[in-house]
Amino acid sequence: MRQFLLFLMFPFLYISKGHAQVVNENDNKMQWFKDAKLGIFIHWGIYSVDGVDESWSFYNKKMSYTDYMRQLNGFTAKNYNPDAWAQLIKESGARYAVITTKHHDGIALWDTKANNMSVAKLTPAHRDVLTPFFTAIRKVGLKTGAYFSILDWSHQDYPGFLKDSSRYQIKNDTMRWKRYQDFYQKQIQELSEKFNPDLFWFDGDWEHSAAEWQAKKVRAMILKHNPDAIINGRLTGYGDYETPEQNFPITRPSLHPWELCMTSNNNWGYHPDDSAYKTPYQLITIFADVISNGGNLLFDIGPREDGWIPTEQVHLLKELGKWTNKYSNAIFNTVAGLPPGHYYGASTLSKDSSTLYLFVPNGDLGKIVIKGLYNKINSIKVLGADQSLGYKIVGKISWSPVPGLVYIDDIPATVMDEYMTVLEVKLDGPVKLYTGKGGLTN
Ligand code: GLC
Repeated sequence: MRQFLLFLMFPFLYISKGHAQVVNENDNKMQWFKDAKLGIFIHWGIYSVDGVDESWSFYNKKMSYTDYMRQLNGFTAKNYNPDAWAQLIKESGARYAVITTKHHDGIALWDTKANNMSVAKLTPAHRDVLTPFFTAIRKVGLKTGAYFSILDWSHQDYPGFLKDSSRYQIKNDTMRWKRYQDFYQKQIQELSEKFNPDLFWFDGDWEHSAAEWQAKKVRAMILKHNPDAIINGRLTGYGDYETPEQNFPITRPSLHPWELCMTSNNNWGYHPDDSAYKTPYQLITIFADVISNGGNLLFDIGPREDGWIPTEQVHLLKELGKWTNKYSNAIFNTVAGLPPGHYYGASTLSKDSSTLYLFVPNGDLGKIVIKGLYNKINSIKVLGADQSLGYKIVGKISWSPVPGLVYIDDIPATVMDEYMTVLEVKLDGPVKLYTGKGGLTN
């Protein structure tokens, strides 16, 4: 019954099945992911030597394949400190980290046995750089994710190569494609056995169909090894959640878990010539918008070939960390906030929906108003400060079912957060919203 009532109030929280892009037979395994809210994405590979586009630079012919591969000679990992990475990621408040185990260029960051295309075999780093990463991330108590490109533009048995040339057509050489299928699936099996990631973050599925990839088999193979493994949506419909990229969805994605992946400047990998960094304010307000709409943010950094992380990215993670730490109650273990229209901004709700968190960007001089709230308010506090706020109900007409507007008192400047302040609104019970059109009877 309670489920049903909640369903009536929050249909968007309960319709979690039936979308073409996700097959999610075990909702329980998704719980940590839904509670986690924040992950850090790491794009590290030989493209960080010259600071060029990851893999795409040769595919799009910005540089030759030979020049691209020459970067192998410059990948040293000589200042790589996975424990320091893990500390920084933890400090940001993230609950998981996803690293590129192999990008479209085909260079594995571990010592793969499937071919010799790895930083262990072909670069001065001369070692598997993933094992220490997985160990360090687990040591600080975070979940681990393995980004893996299922397409591999370097592999001789892979059809695609440069944007206007391919090696062959699958229909003309099914044995060759079979060799590729065996190869890439062997690498996934290696990742499973060696690292047992909590999350597989696939990429590059767009070049072939689910049948060609044998996506169903790949999913089964991963789950056989670890039934709790989560798979992102980029396995041609055989993943557990959606992955909008870079652009914030305008309407609330309502059907399934989702995660926005986003760069810190305009590039995934190390790009010293790209200074278009988001500010901490932008990052934090985007993050609030994401969780308000029930999603996760996977925020990307791109270390240099030696393992050094750009100062701007360190700064962003630290500022984000101060904020997530201060307002952790409003962020982690919450669910999507008020549907659009009830509050002009981001919000979240406690799981029992009796506490409402309102996010107020600094510099927002407008009044804080909640519309269509039936509940009585027990208290309003500025989170992280010893400060209660009053409120007034405006326009509650005695004979009308429409609740009045809740005008919350201004937040004193002294307790305003530098980026975004959070108010904790305690309700008398699970949130109840009016969604009618106004008028006499409804
Ligand atoms: C895109 C790009 C790739 C990047 C990925 C991250 O699919 O192909 O370069 O790694 O997005 O989401």
